[in-house]
Amino acid sequence: MDYFQISGGKRLRGTVEINGAKNAALPIMAATILCEGEVVLHNVPDLADVRTMEHLLNKLGVSTSHEAGGTVRLEVKDEMNCHADYDLVRRMRASICTMGPLLAKRRKAQVSMPGGCAIGDRPIDLHIAGLQALGADAELVSGDMVLKAKRLTGTELFLGGPFGSTVTGTANILMASVLAEGRTVIESAACEPEVIDLANFLNACGAQISGQGSPRITVEGVKELSGCEYTIIPDRIEAGTFIIAGAITNGEIRLKRCRLEHLLAVVDRLRQVGVNIEREGDEIVVSSSRRLEPTTITSQPYPGFPTDLQAQMTALLCLADGNSMVTEKIYPDRFMHVAELNRLGAKLRKEGPTVIVQGVKRLIGAPVMASDLRASAALLLAGLVAKGETQVNRVYHIDRGYEKIERKLRGLGADIERLNRPTEE
Ligand code: EPU
Repeated sequence: MDYFQISGGKRLRGTVEINGAKNAALPIMAATILCEGEVVLHNVPDLADVRTMEHLLNKLGVSTSHEAGGTVRLEVKDEMNCHADYDLVRRMRASICTMGPLLAKRRKAQVSMPGGCAIGDRPIDLHIAGLQALGADAELVSGDMVLKAKRLTGTELFLGGPFGSTVTGTANILMASVLAEGRTVIESAACEPEVIDLANFLNACGAQISGQGSPRITVEGVKELSGCEYTIIPDRIEAGTFIIAGAITNGEIRLKRCRLEHLLAVVDRLRQVGVNIEREGDEIVVSSSRRLEPTTITSQPYPGFPTDLQAQMTALLCLADGNSMVTEKIYPDRFMHVAELNRLGAKLRKEGPTVIVQGVKRLIGAPVMASDLRASAALLLAGLVAKGETQVNRVYHIDRGYEKIERKLRGLGADIERLNRPTEE
């Protein structure tokens, strides 16, 4: 099993290129189920999750082929299979993004119910309620959600839940409603850039969607979608992680191919902490003062501070001069990194959905265990600055969402190696 061996303390310097967004690429790949003809996607990141989605799509009769530089060609060849089985859904929750397109195009979707995961309980009740509102019958059969509809009919529906809207739920309803009869209005839709990217992709295939990026999306159903050529947006979470890597090592780095306008809440908090972030042409330059100020962070749906950067920001605040507070409003249990950061000498105390961060002068290297994608990234960031050696175990979590992260960090001067030990407890 692979692990990262990091020798902390190197200031990062240089330029890093940001890849396409995982959370845009996955639903857009699933949306190709809806299309007649070939879809050509550019800027698709080379990630474990993307390969899992490809594998699932292959099973669902979609052919896929890769070209250099992140181009993937996809085309539906066979519409018989409508079953996303447990084996793949348990490996990657985003497999549920096939539910909306299967139902709309093949009139049936059988998708294994995803269980809980390391970041907490993640229900899909809003996805199901939305699809039922469009006319689907839903039934749970041996752990699979089976949805059927002779036809889907546009309607007005409300997609808000106790923690705000749902990103992949909005994606599923969008993908189902593009081929529904008549007009669908999705109220309390997720406003994330990845949802906008999906809507823009669907429009490029002939859909009629408006209002994406706002809480009210309107869809005028069309008879069919064609293929198209489309470029995935840059990954704002990868960009945010590298910005924090620059900040935590007191370095100076440049980010290429990244959209600062997708990161305004993060930039706001980082500037408050004392990190300089400037746009220079189409690059972003990050540098930080030695002294980091404490701050308060609350994760919220977009355009608020993203939950997917909460753990990485917590790692940075461990080294601020004073006490910070980090509150999680999307996944109240997403704090698996807390105990591991404390192993590195951080002073974190969890109280309900909040972590109180007492800044320390330095972190000290130790072996730590990754638990989920973003928690792993936080441990890696802490390792970059911890004194001595840090081993981040179970890096397969990181490989799900960051392309060649150790190579990119080495390119910036970090002392990090991917090593392998045959077995791990
Ligand atoms: N929720 C419900 N009912 C539902 C769906 C969601 O109550 O039917 C709740 C969730 O439990 C959570 C909140 O609503 O409290 C928001 O969840 P959401 O559905 O928006 O999350 P998701 O679509 O499953 C996507 C990303 C996550 C990211 C969240 C929040 C993808 C493939 N995944 O998940 O990304 O954390 O939105 O922004 O887009 C990651 O990349 O590491 C990751 C976990």
